[in-house]
Amino acid sequence: MSSSRSEAFFASCPRGLEAQLVDELRALDIAASAVPGGVAFSGPWEACYRANLWSRVASRILWRVAEFDYRNEHDLYAAVKAVDWSRYFRVERTLRVNVTAQKSPLKSLEFATLKVKDAVCDRFRDAVGRRPDVDRADPDVRVHVFLEETKGVFYLDTSGEALFKRGWRAAATEAPLRENLAAGLVMLSGWRPGEPLLDPMCGGGTILAEAAAMARGRAPGAKRRFGFEKLSVFNSKLWEEIQPEAKSSTSPNLFGSDNDPKALALARRNLAEAGIERWVTLEQADILERPAPAASGVMIANPPYGERLGGEAELASFYPKLGGALKKNYAGWRCFFFTADMRLPKLIRLQPSRRTPLWNGALECRLYEFRMVAGSNR
Ligand SMILES: C[S@@+](CC[C@H](N)C(=O)[O-])C[C@H]1O[C@@H](n2cnc3c(N)ncnc32)[C@H](O)[C@@H]1O
Repeated sequence: MSSSRSEAFFASCPRGLEAQLVDELRALDIAASAVPGGVAFSGPWEACYRANLWSRVASRILWRVAEFDYRNEHDLYAAVKAVDWSRYFRVERTLRVNVTAQKSPLKSLEFATLKVKDAVCDRFRDAVGRRPDVDRADPDVRVHVFLEETKGVFYLDTSGEALFKRGWRAAATEAPLRENLAAGLVMLSGWRPGEPLLDPMCGGGTILAEAAAMARGRAPGAKRRFGFEKLSVFNSKLWEEIQPEAKSSTSPNLFGSDNDPKALALARRNLAEAGIERWVTLEQADILERPAPAASGVMIANPPYGERLGGEAELASFYPKLGGALKKNYAGWRCFFFTADMRLPKLIRLQPSRRTPLWNGALECRLYEFRMVAGSNR
């Protein structure tokens, strides 16, 4: 397992952002091909390290270690036990197993997970006389098994904690966006760092933080550790050589507001923690009354939706007012709304110029774009 040999990897991402992930990897000189939910790529370990460090939209990067045929739990156990796991990580490392399946004949994924865990541990016991401990909350090593109808693949997770955990979030707000989804929204909007960007419902400030990091050319993974550091193949010298120096640096013009003072206080803390507060002007304001901070720019907002925030009826009366406010105050702006509420275009009474399907976990959402041209949007 030398560091220069080509290995196979799979980078997962929120569904709907596969093309953005392919573009990101291409910018790192990594050729990748998209499938729903992620992209596959091959390359030396350096490619994997750089993808973990630089991708803003990937959720995890998995290293493909083996594949097998199976029909039942017995075959699964035997296939896992046939892998020499002690080559991949030391027995002192704690372990977690994740099994996902599509059209698998196995009845219980929970039981399959147990079988895989037992087989890894039994193989270690046979090889070195003891078993690794399981730690479900904060494992050193994550084994992922993906089962299809008759075939399965083992992966080792090279990211560790999911990549959207950048290491700057001070505390959770209500319904914060995942960082990689927020970065994807900024990419989909086509915003360029020279343009003003406003999030008028900024909550904890995730969209602003991602936009600032993009403009400053900061590596999203600069403040965190990775799963590959715990694997036997880890090459610390190679990793030190690709440390995260900024690739470009524009001073962006960012604006955020929210009508909830608590959300705003949290956005302040988060932006300070991320070290980007000097590029963001934050103020308490209702989106319905907030004047535009510049003659033109990009607005990206993630309004509350569903029962969890607001309520159906409340939102139904809010959106027509929002449409009016956009026409009155935002001529010259491209306004993007990310929501799971498919009623938005009808209720807001504006014609979207684009609607991009995206998934927030299992929840189907849309990013709607409204180009506000004075007097012509009805
Ligand atoms: C889904 S949350 C946004 C989460 C944010 N994208 C994040 O990642 O933390 C919606 C936000 O809209 C704010 N909000 C609701 N109605 C508003 C209004 N009329 N004007 C401004 N903000 C509003 C809420 O206070 C809440 O913080």
